[in-house]
Amino acid sequence: MSLHPRPEAEKLKICPHGGPNWAELRAIGLTPKEVLDFSVSTNPLMPPPGVKEIFNTIAIDHYPDSEATELRQCLSEELGVAPENILAGSGATELIRLIPLTYFGPGDSILILEPTFGEYKVACQIMGSEVLEQWGKAEENFAPRTEETINLIRQHRPKGIFICNPGNPTGQYLSRQEVDMILDACVDCLLILDEAYIAFTEGSWSSADLILRNNVIVLRSMTKDYALAGLRLGYAVAHQDIIDVLHRVCLPWNVNAVAQKAGVIALKDTEYLKRCELKIRQAKQFLINELVQIGFELLPSKTNFFLVKVGDGKSFRNALLRHGIMVRDCTSFGLPEYVRIAPRTMPECQKLITTIKELKRKGELNVSI
Ligand SMILES: Cc1ncc(COP(=O)(O)O)c(C=O)c1O
Repeated sequence: MSLHPRPEAEKLKICPHGGPNWAELRAIGLTPKEVLDFSVSTNPLMPPPGVKEIFNTIAIDHYPDSEATELRQCLSEELGVAPENILAGSGATELIRLIPLTYFGPGDSILILEPTFGEYKVACQIMGSEVLEQWGKAEENFAPRTEETINLIRQHRPKGIFICNPGNPTGQYLSRQEVDMILDACVDCLLILDEAYIAFTEGSWSSADLILRNNVIVLRSMTKDYALAGLRLGYAVAHQDIIDVLHRVCLPWNVNAVAQKAGVIALKDTEYLKRCELKIRQAKQFLINELVQIGFELLPSKTNFFLVKVGDGKSFRNALLRHGIMVRDCTSFGLPEYVRIAPRTMPECQKLITTIKELKRKGELNVSI
């Protein structure tokens, strides 16, 4: 056949994610509703009150507001930046694709701090850019190595750098000072600071003023913060020049009307995140205590999920899935010995621990502890 996609598309590999795979579940006789999902690190509690009630009130026969005006106004009040500094996206993932589409091209080198969310690499590869990976070390809990990052920037002069802060899947969190040091080394280099997990991060610092620089884009995920994964909602915060060009390249009507309204309602509930954070922190601590007591090695994490060393992440995940529980096998992150677990409600966390103990007792969990 003479019709070929661009070589970059032809070579592309799909990036695996957590969450249920419908066909896999069907094969083991489960429906997504029957699975307790600890594999996606979204808010496990219900969306803010009022969100579900909007479904019948939205005019779905009309196009949504392409500018997401009301949502951006609410975000502007929440973040203390102008609406012109904000672009809404159909999840942060849409914006992760949009940024390389707007800024990077063939021959550009992009630095990615690994292990991390696989969509950064995919987005750069689609554009034919070269990905330069900097890996954390297991003996340092995969903490970012800032001095080395700065040296790599000086040496390779990348066009962009993706930093997930706090890091997925590590939960490691760079300080403001470290980010400033990296930024000082960035000459003609765009820093994409993905704060998808900032809402449930201990000791988080505000990145709002970073956007005064014209080479920083901060990404956030309302999907994760407000339990809206099925609606898809995220946003970018940056200097107005950056937002202007991203908006021109972005698909029109990119955020559907229901997601826009859900975002507005969510942001008006100013106590919601605090309420959730407390419950999530308690559930995380419960899981940590129990898993350590069972004998697992856990990596420290500043946010709502953490890595557990189990020996063979894939078989550990599959054994639990047969009992309707899903954790994230970290093989696709380059960490095949680990699984990532994000807390759910306390009764659900108790179920996870009971199941792990039971499977371990029966010898059905192949763990190296
Ligand atoms: C670091 C990171 N950024 C962004 C996303 C995607 O967020 P959204 O659901 O808003 O597209 C994820 C999802 O797993 C993630 O881990």
